[in-house]
Amino acid sequence: PERPYVVDEMISAKAIAARIESLCREIKHEFATTDKLVVVGLLRGSFVFIADLVRELDLPIEVDFLEASSYGDAMESSREVRILKDLRSGIEGRDVLVVEDIVDTGHTLSHVVHLLQSRNPARLKSIALLDKPSRREVDFRADWIGFEIPDEFVVGYGIDFAQRNRNLPFIGKVRFPDQA
Ligand code: PRP
Ligand code: MN
Ligand code: MG
Repeated sequence: PERPYVVDEMISAKAIAARIESLCREIKHEFATTDKLVVVGLLRGSFVFIADLVRELDLPIEVDFLEASSYGDAMESSREVRILKDLRSGIEGRDVLVVEDIVDTGHTLSHVVHLLQSRNPARLKSIALLDKPSRREVDFRADWIGFEIPDEFVVGYGIDFAQRNRNLPFIGKVRFPDQA
């Protein structure tokens, strides 16, 4: 049983691309001396962002993925982060950038950053395209943030609503027309 909804554009594909360019200038500066940066995408939401990000980052990199799911198909965080798929590579002594689509309550990214930190990387940084600070339940902030957004249910550019709308090229907000 699902209610019909519409998606209103909130951040255009053009605005996202411009923001990624400027973030990549900062990231390149930070990791300028690294011989091979491990860029870690959190599945599944970050797959579009990481694809655009690494193509804008002209640094020697390796791409790896980790899957930590807290929401499943629900609209509410379960607050219990499970590692469904771990990295292929060891990261001890290496420089790592964790890439996330959105930080909401903060449970997912904070859990992953603490987990990876325990593996003793040389340097560990995180980036999130979107941040909803008003929803935070744990004290955590990514090192780089694309856009701070209000507490709206967003989809697109990798982000889903019950597994739909990940392939929208922009960030949109979900609206239920049957609700005033
Ligand atoms: C979503 C989103 C972030 C996380 C943010 O992932 O992609 O990873 O929730 O929420 P939090 O800050 O409250 O933890 P989800 O668990 O829905 O998995 P998905 O990436 O496969 O959609
Ligand atoms: Mn996710
Ligand atoms: Mg999801």
